Amino acid sequence: MVRVALIGYGYWGPNLARNLHQLPQSVFAACCDLDAGRLAKVAALYPGIRTTTRLEDIWQDPDIHAVVIATPARTHYSLARQALLAGKHVLVEKPIAMSSAETEELIALAEERRRVLMVGHTFEYNPAVLKIKELIDAGALGDIYYLYSTRVNLGRVQQDLNALWSIAPHDISIMNFLLGTMPLEVSARGAKYLSGLVEDVVFADLAYPNGIIAHIHASWLDPSKVRKMTIVGSRKMIVYDDIDPEGKVRLYDKGADRINGSQIYGEFQYKLRTGDIYIPKIDLTEPLYLECAHFVECVQEGRRPRTDGLNGLRVVRVLEAAERSMAKNGVPEPVEPVSL
Ligand SMILES: NC(=O)c1ccc[n+]([C@@H]2O[C@H](COP(=O)([O-])OP(=O)(O)OC[C@H]3O[C@@H](n4cnc5c(N)ncnc54)[C@H](O)[C@@H]3O)[C@@H](O)[C@H]2O)c1
Repeated sequence: MVRVALIGYGYWGPNLARNLHQLPQSVFAACCDLDAGRLAKVAALYPGIRTTTRLEDIWQDPDIHAVVIATPARTHYSLARQALLAGKHVLVEKPIAMSSAETEELIALAEERRRVLMVGHTFEYNPAVLKIKELIDAGALGDIYYLYSTRVNLGRVQQDLNALWSIAPHDISIMNFLLGTMPLEVSARGAKYLSGLVEDVVFADLAYPNGIIAHIHASWLDPSKVRKMTIVGSRKMIVYDDIDPEGKVRLYDKGADRINGSQIYGEFQYKLRTGDIYIPKIDLTEPLYLECAHFVECVQEGRRPRTDGLNGLRVVRVLEAAERSMAKNGVPEPVEPVSL
């Protein structure tokens, strides 16, 4: 049995706790939070669990094999580093760290200590996203032309992290996963309307290899909750709506086919195709459960997780380029490739 400690029991921590508790191959053994009031809540829900406000209690406990870090993003690097140095396997929430230098250090440390380092890119465990990946890889969409995603809501306003670092890691991780590569260049604009400290809304344009372009709209200052991605290919198109209970993934047999035989050179005619809509059945298992189960399996079997440190680094490199571009009012910035 893998004995796991959770660090951070704020907004997201309780979801991780619930799933860690349900896993058959692990024991949710301990929880650390700086806030004693939050620890009282976790202790009431999971009797017998060890709670503490002191991180040292977790690091020094030889019966804790692995930790899950769900604290604010700026603490990820320091806590993950301490955990690895203490010999623990680590699952850290997104973004893995706040810079590629920090991320590279964590990757090297995990290698050196032979410990699992995994980032919580939840959507890469989401059965809907896995189904889309399956369809793309099977060639159902033909060549991918472009994709765009909207992840907006009113609320969960942050003051120490902008909407890019807080929200967009999900979209970047999904896009990198679906396309099996990372962007070459990013252009982004954002605006600080509320606190004046961090961008509440970000529009980012990503240029992937093979002429594929992508767009991300991330905001916590928007009238409605939207979690939607559209992927347009040469043969078919997909709309993925994560909050649509009736059909999260819809495959549209729509497109524009060129008609041969036009008499005038350089002038083409197109026949628009509006065929069937296919709604594949999607496994309803909670993505966070699948993510936690994968982490525990990797710890047990000494395997490299699907969303390992390098996967985290690919997302951080895009975030860094987007941040640089935002500072230059949208001037395109190259994304440093991950060649490791
Ligand atoms: N995967 C997802 O869909 C998803 C969704 C929401 C949040 N998150 C991620 O989860 C993490 C936490 O976000 P949140 O919204 O729950 O934040 P939060 O501020 O609500 O909770 C953070 C908790 O960590 C505790 N904490 C802070 N520093 C600590 C330390 N040094 N040691 C121990 N405890 C400490 C705080 O007391 C608080 O209880 C972030 O990285 C965020 O990106 C992921």
